[in-house]
Amino acid sequence: MDRPGASLPCWLLLAVCWVVTAGTAAGAKVLPPPSNLDYSFIQICTLNWTWNPPENVSSNCDLEYSSDIVIDEIPQDKREWSKSHFRVTDTCLNEEMRFKVRSECKYDNTSKPSRWVETSLLPKGIPGTAAVDLGCVWHNLEYMVCTWRPGENAGSDTNYSLFYWFDGLKNHKKCSNYSMHQGTFGCIFNFSFPKLTNTYPAISILVRDDSEEIRPVCASKNPTTLVKPATPRWVKLSKIDDEIYLEWSESDTFPQNCLFYEVGYHNGDVDSAQIIKVETNYTSIPSVDPNSKYIFKVRAKPKPECYSSKLYSDWSEEKSIGEKTDSTFYFVLIIAIPAIVAVSTIILLVYLKRLKILILPPIPDPREILKRMFGEQNDDSQGCAKDDSVNALDRFIKEEEIHSLILTETPECTNSEKENR
Ligand SMILES: *[C@@H]1O[C@H](CO)[C@@H](O)[C@H](O)[C@H]1NC(C)=O
Ligand SMILES: *[C@@H]1O[C@H](CO)[C@@H](O)[C@H](O)[C@H]1NC(C)=O
Ligand SMILES: *[C@@H]1O[C@H](CO)[C@@H](O)[C@H](O)[C@H]1NC(C)=O
Ligand SMILES: *[C@@H]1O[C@H](CO)[C@@H](O)[C@H](O)[C@H]1NC(C)=O
Ligand SMILES: *[C@@H]1O[C@H](CO)[C@@H](O)[C@H](O)[C@H]1NC(C)=O
Ligand SMILES: *[C@@H]1O[C@H](CO)[C@@H](O)[C@H](O)[C@H]1NC(C)=O
Ligand SMILES: *[C@@H]1O[C@H](CO)[C@@H](O)[C@H](O)[C@H]1NC(C)=O
Repeated sequence: MDRPGASLPCWLLLAVCWVVTAGTAAGAKVLPPPSNLDYSFIQICTLNWTWNPPENVSSNCDLEYSSDIVIDEIPQDKREWSKSHFRVTDTCLNEEMRFKVRSECKYDNTSKPSRWVETSLLPKGIPGTAAVDLGCVWHNLEYMVCTWRPGENAGSDTNYSLFYWFDGLKNHKKCSNYSMHQGTFGCIFNFSFPKLTNTYPAISILVRDDSEEIRPVCASKNPTTLVKPATPRWVKLSKIDDEIYLEWSESDTFPQNCLFYEVGYHNGDVDSAQIIKVETNYTSIPSVDPNSKYIFKVRAKPKPECYSSKLYSDWSEEKSIGEKTDSTFYFVLIIAIPAIVAVSTIILLVYLKRLKILILPPIPDPREILKRMFGEQNDDSQGCAKDDSVNALDRFIKEEEIHSLILTETPECTNSEKENR
């Protein structure tokens, strides 16, 4: 009979923990335990726990091994029975993981199970340095985006690297496309399968640093819980009579009938907002208010029959259709109409003034004309007095111009010229 209180957990890596058995109940023989319990990494986050069968087990015992996992002293309730001498489990690496196994004879009430044999895997590195909040989103069945934050005890220059592996990949891969945004690290890697695939392997993600001080962390994720479809784009939005027809793009990476859509719409006031669920990439809204403007948006969600993800795509851009003029249009009208009226008035006034000048030219004042005549005569006499014979030709040309241009002044000017010569 096992006595849990007498068990002595050993904290050293690879140590086997022995349970002291107090004795055997009368008549029931206690089975010998398995031996040489050990483990090895078979992938970045996957362990193969192995042991040897117990000796001297009677041939009429249908021997099986029962095993279980304890993480940070918390039993994980992952009891399994098997006939093989190994068990493959995932590991998280940032917490202590204990594995325990015992032998049992099935259908045999004459022997009791052996004591538990245990070994533990202790975390490496300094506590609090492991990446935290590790999460991944599988975008459009095309690529995986994983994000995490540095552990609180990790230096600001910690260079976390992400490695991933899934069944079907020969060796694990290192993610190469890193980003850093507001203290959150991210890495993107391709993750796609042939379109006809409908089961996807679990993916193991390991985030660690080359430094021994940084504690590594592992996570195993079921990709179907991480699916996020691409944002739909509007393809058509049209109105025939009182019916609005809508069509949007369909993601070509998803198998047929694995997405449904939510179309959200409202006509101006947000209180009228409605959401309808659609299984196709098009729909129509019958008997809409012909005088209202309608605003639409659409998003995609994986169907539960295909994926267990609860993630929607982002909402598409909003698109509108309908006659109702919106407030910005009114605003433009209010500003534009008075402005147009004002500008046209000014143009009209200027034009009218010109027209007035044309129709009623100003009556010439005879006194002005006389004054100008005499003024010019004086000026000419001064100018001519300075002339010498070299400029005679120039003067002649000027005279000719004056003759032809100002007929009324011709006699006086020629006179004065002659006088000066
Ligand atoms: C685990 O180790 C055992 C013993 O070495 C081996 O027989 C078994 O194939 C291993 N399991 C896996 C999944 O590699
Ligand atoms: C198994 O049985 C053999 C012979 O019966 C004996 O010599 C040996 O000590 C036994 N081993 C154990 C572990 O009891
Ligand atoms: C074991 O079980 C069988 C039937 O399943 C029963 O006849 C027998 O008495 C049991 N023996 C003990 C020791 O309990
Ligand atoms: C992280 O990488 C940068 C650039 O490669 C390097 O300068 C820095 O020393 C590294 N930090 C650590 C802790 O190794
Ligand atoms: C890295 O990721 C960005 C998006 O964050 C993407 O635009 C870019 O093409 C990627 N680079 C490579 C080499 O895959
Ligand atoms: C990821 O996939 C895209 C297109 O499928 C390809 O262009 C790109 O080279 C791939 N990147 C890597 C790192 O494999
Ligand atoms: C919408 O779905 C129909 C039928 O599946 C398809 O023929 C059409 O190409 C899809 N439209 C778009 C924009 O993907």
